[in-house]
Amino acid sequence: MSKTISELEKLLPKDLDAGLVFSGSASGKKIKGYPTPNSFTPELDPEYLFHESSRDVIVWFMNSSEPFYLFGPTGSGKSSLIKQLAAKLNYPVFSITGHSRLEFPDMVGHLTVEKGNMAFQYGPLALAMKYGGLLLLDEIDLLDPSTAAGLNNILDGGPLCISENEGEIINPHPLFRFAATANTNGGSDETGLYHGTLRQNLAFMDRFWLCEIDYPTPESEEKLLSIKAGHLPADLRKKMIEFAGEVRRFFMGESKVDFNQAIEVTFSTRTLIRWADLVVRFQPLANQGIQPVTYALDRALGYRATKVTRSFLHELAQRIFPVENI
Ligand SMILES: Nc1ncnc2c1ncn2[C@@H]1O[C@H](COP(=O)(O)OP(=O)(O)O)[C@@H](O)[C@H]1O
Ligand SMILES: [Mg+2]
Repeated sequence: MSKTISELEKLLPKDLDAGLVFSGSASGKKIKGYPTPNSFTPELDPEYLFHESSRDVIVWFMNSSEPFYLFGPTGSGKSSLIKQLAAKLNYPVFSITGHSRLEFPDMVGHLTVEKGNMAFQYGPLALAMKYGGLLLLDEIDLLDPSTAAGLNNILDGGPLCISENEGEIINPHPLFRFAATANTNGGSDETGLYHGTLRQNLAFMDRFWLCEIDYPTPESEEKLLSIKAGHLPADLRKKMIEFAGEVRRFFMGESKVDFNQAIEVTFSTRTLIRWADLVVRFQPLANQGIQPVTYALDRALGYRATKVTRSFLHELAQRIFPVENI
């Protein structure tokens, strides 16, 4: 038996103080978690900035064994939010990324040969259910709806039957949690940009508690950049956030900026952090007469876009940034 499984077998849940865990001051409200992290607990990111949507996720962790479905645009922090909150509770987290060919055995496990004998190797879903972990199914709307429907019984709190492992029945551990993330709400892709997302079965979606997440507010992104790229002048960081906001509005058709074509890329928080990071790295280029802001912008986002969109980004940069930055 691998060391990590024996570690999971020893896990003992503990009542923690929700206030202490999430905000540092005692609240008297109890939340179940584990006393210490284990090999499956995501690493806490000290630079992580908790989003307003944390509220929903925390209430869900406290009260419900119903599955949770967090949806929102790419790079808005869906997966990291769930992992960071789980890390605060020292939960073991088992992740799977959905795709159209993912099948039930990929989640449950399969038979393998171990020292000449056949042995069943548990998959992420089985491990989370058996030992009291969080199953994080990212990009759940990429699943084939019939595979997704195979999860219905588990989403209802039912046991997992593994016929391949001599009919083993795993009853869900009291701390088992099921969280999913996706770009769409499982209904349809309103933007037409999330290729491969599939409209999910209504009965499947009906089982989830839903939460929508958007990009952080400009105030939160300012805090985030001050942590991630504190070397950049505050007014430059502010302009970068303004720029990201304008690109997002333009992408959604909500911008007043005059440009006669739609754009096919948007500015995720992930891209914003990458942009700031590249501006810092490419600072020395300024001595050669190359402006780090636009140089880094192409590398963080522009090169992913069509030439027309790239020229829009450059034009927008000229409007937003002072002359010396572009
Ligand atoms: N609030 C935040 N604080 C710190 N980093 C963040 C935040 N939101 C997003 N990020 C960073 O952006 C990247 C993308 O986040 P992720 O959670 O993978 O997005 P999503 O799952 O929505 O596509 C990660 O590297 C993450 O660390
Ligand atoms: Mg994700």
